[in-house]
Amino acid sequence: MGADETRHAGALHEVRAATRATHEALDAALPDGLHGVDDYTRYLGALLPLAQWLADSWSPAWPEELACWYDSERVDCLRADLAALDAPASGSAMASAATPAEWLGGCYVMEGSALGARVLSRHVDALVNERPEVADARQFMRHLGRDPKRWRCFAGRLDALPADAVADAVRGARRGFAMVYRNLVPHGVPA
Ligand code: HEM
Repeated sequence: MGADETRHAGALHEVRAATRATHEALDAALPDGLHGVDDYTRYLGALLPLAQWLADSWSPAWPEELACWYDSERVDCLRADLAALDAPASGSAMASAATPAEWLGGCYVMEGSALGARVLSRHVDALVNERPEVADARQFMRHLGRDPKRWRCFAGRLDALPADAVADAVRGARRGFAMVYRNLVPHGVPA
């Protein structure tokens, strides 16, 4: 990612286009959003392997300006929420992202999920009435939504990737979405 490399304005567009079908498949796997504790538990359990992969893949040798997207707290929040719901918290070991661009592609899946989580957290509000233990299982969503400007900032960073890094970013986003999908729909085939 040197300064002399060509800037490519469409990294976000390409990552989005490459993963749109999988996002639609995820929406279809939760057609009404999170309308039961089982849905909520599946959702948290599906995001844990992605959060773990992103935390484990980060390398301090990578450009310092990317460090703000490294966030190991997500893993702690997800584990705490799953424990509060008495649900297992499994995180399978995955080969690390090989390049910063691949890792940023994976971050796209997590950072973007905060947009959908704005809607989904209202569903979780409603679940608390039905199951009071859900009140103690909301750390992850609160953490994800803590900074409303974060998505715009992240999207700008991803979009600024040079053209020769876009394929890696697409690969990372596909890997990230596939992890979530596999855990949300264990017998499904990712789009
Ligand atoms: C389960 C894991 C999920 C993941 C990993 C995920 C991921 C993403 C990503 C990456 C984006 C950003 C798209 C972009 O603008 O490029 C996004 C946006 C969005 N997602 Fe999801 N999503 C998930 C589930 C859901 C569900 C179940 C819903 C249904 C309510 C949903 C609704 C949305 C909405 C409304 C947006 C914002 C679209 C916009 O404002 O442009 N997501 N999500």
